[in-house]
Amino acid sequence: MEPRTERAHEAFVRAALIGTRFAEVRWVAKTGSTNDDLSELARKGAGEQVLITDLQTAGKGRRNRVWTAPTGSGVLMSVLLRDVEPCDGFWSVGALALAASEAIGELIDVPCSLKWPNDVMIDTVNGQKKVAGVLAQLVDQSIVVGIGMNANWPDDVPAEMAERGTAINRHTNDRTMSDRPALAVDVLRRAIGHLDSERHVLRTAWKARCSTLGQHVRLELQTGAIIGTAVDIAADGALRLKDKDGISSHQVGDVVHLRPAT
Ligand code: BTN
Repeated sequence: MEPRTERAHEAFVRAALIGTRFAEVRWVAKTGSTNDDLSELARKGAGEQVLITDLQTAGKGRRNRVWTAPTGSGVLMSVLLRDVEPCDGFWSVGALALAASEAIGELIDVPCSLKWPNDVMIDTVNGQKKVAGVLAQLVDQSIVVGIGMNANWPDDVPAEMAERGTAINRHTNDRTMSDRPALAVDVLRRAIGHLDSERHVLRTAWKARCSTLGQHVRLELQTGAIIGTAVDIAADGALRLKDKDGISSHQVGDVVHLRPAT
């Protein structure tokens, strides 16, 4: 387990992924944003690959937010997927999020679920908290899917981080540190399986792990908010919300879980 250098981490992950579509792996000590790095490579026609880092100086979150994590506290990883059909975009991203929720769920003793569109959540005594987030960037026919997983948080993370987020090491049976290279391998292996599966199989597995379904939610859009019950995830990944006017479909937005629907 840790501590090892990024070179040893890289060798470990590479060895575990030989012969797979993610055989090309780099683990670097520091970069701006792994998503930006792979997007640049995608524009130059690079093949499928994985980039992992211990620290990002310009980490990006969804909806133009920043994604920060203390050095070595997270698995900050992007994968470059080539030749993705635009209509398949949600599920390419969803495959990574589902893989992360499954891998994290194996490490902890409390439920780990997906909040639409692709947040990975852990149940805590103070409600659900986010343990991982996913950010996708389209580059021509490729998608760069970046995932930030909070693995080992120190005790003194800023209060605003701990209010809405959490880390794996706070929920393990024996409170041990999470082995980041092993977690990266587990997520990537599971992701390969989901990416290669039939889309209806992936959608069924994703929905089964989704804690948004059946909830009374507030969907925050650029233009305002809608309140309703989350009744389905459509074949294209859209969230289907039911309110007094009927059922509407939404491709983007931030969900707040209000309470289980009655
Ligand atoms: C979110 O807002 O929930 C998405 C966060 C995604 C963060 C990851 S960390 C690795 C990759 N590189 C980035 O700059 N962002 C993603």
